[in-house]
Amino acid sequence: MTQQPLAKYRHDYRAPDYTITDISLEFDLNADTTTVTAVSNVVGQGPAGAPLILNGEELELLAISIDGQPWPHYRQEGPLLVIEQLPGAFTLTIINVIHPARNSALEGLYLSGDALCTQCEAEGFRHITYYLDRPDVLARFTTRITADKTRYPYLLSNGNRIDGGEMADGRHWVVWQDPFPKPCYLFALVAGDFDVLRDSFTTRSGREVALELFVDRGNLDRADWAMTSLKQSMRWDETRFGLEYDLDIFMIVAVDFFNMGAMENKGLNVFNSKYVLARAETATDVDYLNIERVIGHEYFHNWTGNRITCRDWFQLSLKEGLTVFRDQEFSADLGSRPVNRIGNVRVMRGSQFAEDASPMAHPIRPDKVIEMNNFYTVTVYEKGAEVIRMLHTLLGEEKFQAGMRLYVERHDGSAATCDDFVDAMEQASGIDLAQFRRWYSQSGTPVLSVRDDYNPELGQYQLHVSQMTPPTADQIEKLPLHIPLDIELYDVEGRVIPLRRDGQAVDNVLNITDSVQTFIFDEVPSLPVPSLLRGFSAPVKLDYPYSDQQLTLLMRFATDQFSRWDAAQSLLSIYIRLSVARVTQGQPLTLPLHVADAFRGVLLDANLDPALAAQILTLPSENEMAELFSIIDPAAIHEVHQALIRCLATELADELLAVYLANKTPVYRVEHEDIGKRALRNICLFYLAFGEHDRAVRMATAQYHAADNMTDALAAISAAVAARLPCQATLLAEFDERWHHDGLVMDKWFTLQAASPAGDVLAQVKSLLNHRSFSLNNPNRIRALIGAFSAGNPSAFHAADGSGYRFLVEILTELNTRNPQVASRLIEPLIRLRRYDEARQALMRKALATLQALPNLSGDLYEKITKALG
Ligand code: ARG
Ligand code: ZN
Repeated sequence: MTQQPLAKYRHDYRAPDYTITDISLEFDLNADTTTVTAVSNVVGQGPAGAPLILNGEELELLAISIDGQPWPHYRQEGPLLVIEQLPGAFTLTIINVIHPARNSALEGLYLSGDALCTQCEAEGFRHITYYLDRPDVLARFTTRITADKTRYPYLLSNGNRIDGGEMADGRHWVVWQDPFPKPCYLFALVAGDFDVLRDSFTTRSGREVALELFVDRGNLDRADWAMTSLKQSMRWDETRFGLEYDLDIFMIVAVDFFNMGAMENKGLNVFNSKYVLARAETATDVDYLNIERVIGHEYFHNWTGNRITCRDWFQLSLKEGLTVFRDQEFSADLGSRPVNRIGNVRVMRGSQFAEDASPMAHPIRPDKVIEMNNFYTVTVYEKGAEVIRMLHTLLGEEKFQAGMRLYVERHDGSAATCDDFVDAMEQASGIDLAQFRRWYSQSGTPVLSVRDDYNPELGQYQLHVSQMTPPTADQIEKLPLHIPLDIELYDVEGRVIPLRRDGQAVDNVLNITDSVQTFIFDEVPSLPVPSLLRGFSAPVKLDYPYSDQQLTLLMRFATDQFSRWDAAQSLLSIYIRLSVARVTQGQPLTLPLHVADAFRGVLLDANLDPALAAQILTLPSENEMAELFSIIDPAAIHEVHQALIRCLATELADELLAVYLANKTPVYRVEHEDIGKRALRNICLFYLAFGEHDRAVRMATAQYHAADNMTDALAAISAAVAARLPCQATLLAEFDERWHHDGLVMDKWFTLQAASPAGDVLAQVKSLLNHRSFSLNNPNRIRALIGAFSAGNPSAFHAADGSGYRFLVEILTELNTRNPQVASRLIEPLIRLRRYDEARQALMRKALATLQALPNLSGDLYEKITKALG
């Protein structure tokens, strides 16, 4: 490590001394060497004579001039270019050279296969040219691209194509102009050869927008669903939020090499092909729904992110939390609201709560950052969305939308802060959000403890609610938060008892604001069963001493489907906690009959939505189970997980088979009803794979061979691998033979094996590094194989001999220089050492120390490792 990376603090924000109103960029494109000429209109807005300090990394500077005159008054200070003796307003011309083909970090301009593309968020633009690379500098971009016409027939950038032509030497050029001022992180350029799916959309006000979807040649048969999703997104944003698209063209490009999901560049979204390409044979139902969600997410950024952007990167959740909330609502409006909610909550409980308990704990609006790329987290995104959802709960749809309108009216065309957003919500609704704002600055997972009292004489029921947020790695002191607690009461017959106080109806959402509060309800005729934190009305852990009887009642009678699922989760949690304790004491495991019966009831309930039944029957993953414990015993959790599966498989064998047989879908259609049926049928198959052996083999093999779609094929092979059926080897080989040329499809195959419960899984993962379809250059492959092992197979990764840790160190040593962003995501399970026993902690610490000693340790890894060891 040559120099220690420096931290930046939110409180140090200062407006820049200069801004750039217009920039004209010229790219003379070649994969090896690209020349960039940037002509910027710069205007001083700070003290006269201040130096202009531009960001630039790994650039070869050729020339600088001011107002057309070569300018000698500059110096390079590490990643900064300092220009001095400047007038108050001027034209700055910078010429520099970059090398896209050498760019393995996939940030800035790089090669994805044969195409050239860019990724600039958060701070990638400085890898393209020297610039004020910060989101509060908004300029109008004009981009001229010149490139070889055969290699790069399509030359794309933001905005509208305003000119183009051919040149004598086989090269051609185009000019794009984006009329909307934007920060440079929203800049995009793509050059390559593609197949194009074209369509159009007429906005509510009657403007016609051309839609273009660019995919690798030969992939046109996998582009339809993304296009459909785009049109649905455009329509939905108009109807639900009243927001309309603003340019004449909207383009999406799918690329195979991409560090994350997708990017909302103005008018030219660039996507990981994983979130675009789908046809029945290659993509699962889950893939289809993810594509719909991510297409929506990036499209919705056009308003929440692009038209209104962030003042600084500490405000990231301003656009991401809000846009995730919007994509969640989009998916819920198009499909099943409860099933979507369950998915969101599983991410919160399984991943976000774990982040809060990790060395990387941070508020949704972080205060201190070394590497911004490290803060594209479940906290900023998913918890950020939960915070928006709480606002929505407190205000209601109407006032929330009034707040949105005020926010847009005030901040359109500018860079805003989280406080600006809450101000708009507060002023449009008249609701006091002073205490609520703490959600932005306080990290950690609050624990909400609820105890109750019933007085039969008075017919009075009391809820005693207390809140406490345990200290986190980044913050010791915690204050009480404003927590919306949604509740309902049931009588023993499962009927709702209306909430009343002093002869008045009381709202279902209680405002928890103090450390300790009591709520009294009158006219309660009998001892009620409370349904608490309905719909996960706040991102907190609930502590209420539910009995099995109360939970089974809620499983059957709760008026909303989410609460039924949640009751099932709580019931399982009780037995997971108990069983892990028994395993550690060497006692045998059992599941009481009434628990198995509650799940039997789900299988037998013909009125239950199959999609919901599937969710209830899906056990929490080992990672989700781990979050029930402060110190995690991965081996015991694995054993309990396996035992629970086998137990339910045995107890419910007949019902599982009956439901499996009853839920066949004749032809593959991506319809919510069918998706639900397939999910239910496939979870049945999963359990059946652990049942009677010969039948299990027959069923998995038959379903795999009969499947005309990836959902059913993958479910069959997954069941075989999970239950370690002897047919797994053949099925895996057949899959490989058919799909080895297709990286996206093979990712499923890699993941399946990396997540296998087999004892030799690490050896298998190591040998798959040499598979013909694997490459350490492609982030999707890395995540599918290595990420699935280290983050998705905790009992193997945390093997007591430290072999999992040593493996990850080898991989990270390689990726540290090759692709720091991907490396930094992969290291997560290793930095969470405090959650494990002393022996594992020692091994993890040793692994981290090895990495810390690497020459050229990236800032990304440095930030996480120092936090973990600190
Ligand atoms: N803004 C993009 C999105 O939410 C993600 C960009 C992630 N950037 C990063 N450096 N990790 O869709
Ligand atoms: Zn986003």
